[in-house]
Amino acid sequence: MSINNCFNVWDFRAKAKRRLPRPFWDYLEGSADDGYTFDRNMAAFDDYELMPRYLVDVAKIDMTTKVLGQTLDWPVFLAPTGASRMWHPGAEPAAARAAAKSGTLYTLSTVATTSIEDVAAASDGSKMFQIYVLRDKGLNEHLIERCKAANFAALCLTVDVPNLGNRERDLRNGFSSPPKLTARTLASIAAHPRWLAGFAKKPDLSFANIKDWMAGQEHKPMSTQAPMSTQAYVGAAFDPSVDWDRAADMIKKWNGPFAIKGILSVEDARRAVEIGATAVMISNHGGRQLDGVPAPIDLIADVADAVGDRIEVIMDSGVRRGTHVVKALARGAKAVAIGRPYLYALAAGGEPGVDRMLELLRLEVRRAMALTGVTSVDEITEDHVRALR
Ligand SMILES: Cc1cc2nc3c(=O)[nH]c(=O)nc-3n(C[C@H](O)[C@H](O)[C@H](O)COP(=O)(O)O)c2cc1C
Repeated sequence: MSINNCFNVWDFRAKAKRRLPRPFWDYLEGSADDGYTFDRNMAAFDDYELMPRYLVDVAKIDMTTKVLGQTLDWPVFLAPTGASRMWHPGAEPAAARAAAKSGTLYTLSTVATTSIEDVAAASDGSKMFQIYVLRDKGLNEHLIERCKAANFAALCLTVDVPNLGNRERDLRNGFSSPPKLTARTLASIAAHPRWLAGFAKKPDLSFANIKDWMAGQEHKPMSTQAPMSTQAYVGAAFDPSVDWDRAADMIKKWNGPFAIKGILSVEDARRAVEIGATAVMISNHGGRQLDGVPAPIDLIADVADAVGDRIEVIMDSGVRRGTHVVKALARGAKAVAIGRPYLYALAAGGEPGVDRMLELLRLEVRRAMALTGVTSVDEITEDHVRALR
C-alpha cells in the first residue's frame, strides 16, 4: 500500500507495523505494564461528545494558535520522541522539515539520533528542545547553550521519567542499545529487507546530542560493544533527583519560552506557574511511563480552570483524530502534541509520509471546526463539548 492510500493515522499505523522489524515496532507502540493508560488515552476521548452549532458562516477558518511564543498555523505540533533513526533513515530532520512545511513546531528529544545543530541546519521552522536531565549538571547547561546558539525557540523539561516505565515488550525482545542481535531479532530484521536497506545507509543509533559525554562515563550505553537495556541505560544516565528548584534554575538560565511536560495534577500545574514556566504539557508520555494514571483529556478542564491565563495549557497522549483536537481545545487546551502518529508516518513513508499525515490531520481539524460551527481556535469553548461522565 502506497502512502497515497493512507487516509488517516490508523492507515499509517498499519503500514508502519508491516514495515518495521518486530522489536522496533514494539518499541514505537509499546506502553508500560498492562497498557491501561495507553488504552485509556484514546478511549477517554469517547467520553466527550462535540456539540455543534449551525448556521454559522464557516467559509473562512483560522486555525492559528499561539503557544510558547510561536504562532502555529494549526493547533497541533510534534512531541519529542527519541531515536527516530530506528523508524526511517530520514530520522529527526525529516520530521522537523515536515513540521516546518505544515507551519508548526517540532520538538527535538535529548535522546535523538540527530544533533541540535544538524536539525537546525535541516529546518529553519520553529523548534523546541526537550530536556532529560542527565547526571552531569554541566552537560545540561551545555545543551541549553547549544539550543540558544542554534536558535531553538523554546525548551521543554520532561518530568515524568525519573525512572523508565516498565515496558515489558522491550525486555522480552531484548531491546537494547545497540540492539541485541538475538536469533529472533535477526529473523525479524531479515524479514524486513526494505527497512534494513534504509537502516544500512546509516546504522548509527547513538544519541547524537550526548554521545561525547557518554563516552566519558563509566556506563557506556551507546556505541559500544556491550548492549544495555533501555531501562538500565536510563537508570545509569538520567538524574532522578531533579526537583522544582532545579526546574526553576533551568527556566532562569534559558530565559525564554519554557514548557514543563508530563504534568498530571492541578497542584503541579500551579507550581509550574509559580516558577515561571510558559506552558504545562499535560501528558502521560503516551502511556509509556506510570501505568494507571488518567488520560490527559480528562484533566485539562480542571488544570485550565485552576491556572487561568497564567500559563498555557497544552496536552498530548492519545490524539489520533481532528475531532480529538477540537475536544481538547474545548476542554481548555491551547494546542495539542502528537507522538506516535508522526512516527507511524515516518516509518511508513519517511518525510513524504509525515507530510501527508500532517496534512490529513490538519484537514481533519479544519473539517471538525467547520462542522462544529467555529471559525477560530479562540471560538472553541466548553459549550462545544459535553462530558458523558
Ligand atoms: C517512541 C517514542 C519515543 C518517545 N521519546 C520521548 C522522549 O525522548 N522525550 C519525551 O519527553 N517524550 C518522549 N515520548 C513521549 C512523547 O513525547 C509524547 O508524550 C507521547 O508520544 C504522546 O502520546 P501519543 O504517542 O499517544 O501521541 C516518546 C514517545 C514515543 C512513542
